[in-house]
Amino acid sequence: MALPSIDQLELDGAQVLVRVDFNVPLEGRRVTDDTRIRRALPTIQALRERGCKLVICSHLGRPKGRRKGSLSLEPAAWRLAELLDAEVVFPPNCVGEEVEALARELPAGGVMVVENLRFHPGESTGDADFAAALARLGRAYVSDAFGTLHRAHASVAVVPGLVEQRCVGLLVQQEIAALSRLLDGPERPFAAVLGGAKVGGKIGVLESLVRRCDVLLIGGAMAYTFLAAQEIPVGRSRVEEDRVLLARRILERCADRGVEVLLPIDHVVAAELSAEARGRTVETIPEDMMGLDIGPQTVAAFSERLSSCKTIFWNGPMGVFEMEPFAAGTRGVAEAVAACEGNTVVGGGDSVAAITAMGLQERIDHISTGGGASLAFIEGRELPGLKPIGDWR
Ligand code: 3PG
Repeated sequence: MALPSIDQLELDGAQVLVRVDFNVPLEGRRVTDDTRIRRALPTIQALRERGCKLVICSHLGRPKGRRKGSLSLEPAAWRLAELLDAEVVFPPNCVGEEVEALARELPAGGVMVVENLRFHPGESTGDADFAAALARLGRAYVSDAFGTLHRAHASVAVVPGLVEQRCVGLLVQQEIAALSRLLDGPERPFAAVLGGAKVGGKIGVLESLVRRCDVLLIGGAMAYTFLAAQEIPVGRSRVEEDRVLLARRILERCADRGVEVLLPIDHVVAAELSAEARGRTVETIPEDMMGLDIGPQTVAAFSERLSSCKTIFWNGPMGVFEMEPFAAGTRGVAEAVAACEGNTVVGGGDSVAAITAMGLQERIDHISTGGGASLAFIEGRELPGLKPIGDWR
């Protein structure tokens, strides 16, 4: 990997701007899942040990260029302070003279987290002036926001080109190494398990996986578009009518290439999508019902097939995981992935949440901190956040 890393740069004592992905879930002012903060710790600690002054920046949510109290990064800054057991300076902005002065005053190894980058409209538009203001916060730039590398935003794609030195952090290195193993000669059989709501958002990754994997298992709402493509009745389930042809083409390509496809063979259905609805298991979805989770026979079939695979990539829930009556399918697949003895990689919010809620993290080889970013990587798309740093292929 030709991307420069932190040990290749002369960083000792330098003021460094570190882009992380602290886009963490909050309940009021409490961080409810600090995984992304924890995963940034190795880079933060390595830089502190080298006496750097750290200016850490991130986005949180989508405030659309306006200041929004509920999306302040302050709770994440305090959580970082707890995890580091060190003082963390938190100014109420991310650019400007006051922030620059506070950064200069940091002691060696000192840490500052600046306010949400997306409170400024220039972040999401990749604005040159906003990027220049950010670039004044560090002589060097460390890219450790893996989950955001697919965004051509100012702090991700423009700032690295404006500083003296740039490199990737340890999390980005780890993510690229783990995901590259899926692309370059994965141990076979290689199974891809895809779920979630939309075929539309996953076309590129489906096309890439059809070329690479041996088994494709599809669950979640996107499965109904694939079932509809085979003229299997789906009742009132969510079907993307404009993607049915595409789903048929993907199935044909799988058949041509000898890729085995497993679709749901039973379903948990209800008349409406509600946490109070009583789910019913059926093999054929009645006309007035919608499929909201894969059924137990499907879980058994998926689990059986996954048990003999040597590589698994899983992205996307198997049903409406956030509602208890429709969560069993996702949990079942989480168990099956964790039980696999081969190389297992999980990405995407809900799949990772299922693994974490079930305490299965230790049994997964790599849990990606990026949903969209990990899909973009597997799709083989150029990542705007890596382009200004170096060549990773
Ligand atoms: C994520 O949560 O996937 C990343 O933080 C990117 O967030 P975004 O989709 O709002 O750009």
